[in-house]
Amino acid sequence: MKKYFDLARVGRMLRKRTVVSMAALALILLLSSCGGDYIYSTLDVTGSAAKDQLSLFMLTFWLGLIVFVVVSAAFCYSLWRFGMSKKAKEESDAGEMPTQTHGNATIEIIWTVLPILLLIIIGIPTVKQIWEQEDVALHDVSDDIVVNVTGYQWWWEFEYPEYGFTTANELVIPVGKRVTLNLQSGDVLHSFWVPRLSGKKDLIPNQDNVLFFTPEEEGYYYGQCAELCLGAHAYMRFRVLVENETDFQAWTEKFTGDTVLQQVSLDPQVQRGKLLFKNKGCAGCHAVGNENYAYGQDAPDLTNFGLRTTVAAGRVPNTPENLASWLRNPQELKPTNYMPTLWPIGEGVSDEVAQQREEEIAAIVAYLQSLGKDDVQQAQAGL
Ligand code: CUA
Repeated sequence: MKKYFDLARVGRMLRKRTVVSMAALALILLLSSCGGDYIYSTLDVTGSAAKDQLSLFMLTFWLGLIVFVVVSAAFCYSLWRFGMSKKAKEESDAGEMPTQTHGNATIEIIWTVLPILLLIIIGIPTVKQIWEQEDVALHDVSDDIVVNVTGYQWWWEFEYPEYGFTTANELVIPVGKRVTLNLQSGDVLHSFWVPRLSGKKDLIPNQDNVLFFTPEEEGYYYGQCAELCLGAHAYMRFRVLVENETDFQAWTEKFTGDTVLQQVSLDPQVQRGKLLFKNKGCAGCHAVGNENYAYGQDAPDLTNFGLRTTVAAGRVPNTPENLASWLRNPQELKPTNYMPTLWPIGEGVSDEVAQQREEEIAAIVAYLQSLGKDDVQQAQAGL
């Protein structure tokens, strides 16, 4: 009988130092790749849903590890005990089949029943959690923070129906209170995912999906669309700010009541920016507060934009420089997105025109960054 697999040769190879040192090096490289801040970690979680899911993962992991250790040990023992036995060698040399265990009822029952038991142990808590997460009909939302989330290519709309306002790309919620998210899509499939707070749930056109969890720690959380939605899918990000109750209420008051009209600083640069925002087309797509000059619904609502921490749905931090470069060339920061380039600068643009466009960009940056800032309200109060 032809030998396809020479165990003795494999043994010799394994003993070679090079193999061992290669394995050690690979392990070191693998371990050193873990590190940094775990902004998208599903193992370092603070939300109730993410915690439940982590507990399921750990159960599966430890059971899997036990199975791995037991099977590996049995395998290694068999190799050591029977693989090189004299009897096996004689049988092999004589071209005989080794002793077969096929048809051994005891063994077959054991290896059928054990996996079934393992699946039951994993299945019961898994199905229980699925039911709990899908239990929308029994779910009383009267004490929840309810937010209607709509996904668009490639940004997020967050509507707070209790408070009567809409914002975008930054979900602000209070700590310790259950949040219920009604998920919808304005175009294609998207998926809402804040790994440290909750697992993914898809946003599907014409289907109401609900996701709920209780954030247990204040903090700044990173979210990402987790369903391929073409184009700028990888840059369809968002943030979740979990704040204490006082800060959350203060934030909502920025959008409601007497301040619902977006307050604008009297600074001439800001005033110029406001006018440009209205006249250059921005207001056709973007809404700003209840201002009648800006009520566009096709792009992110920019009410209190100055309070946001990022530009272009989590793409870059909200700094004057980043906002200016976004306005100058939206396609460079986020290829394929639908924001038009209204102030092209570069080839074919004279220095004079370029300078004028830079000035306009600077004014719009000043206007947008002033929105929602406290000193602006003070300036307004001093009128
Ligand atoms: Cu939206 Cu991917």
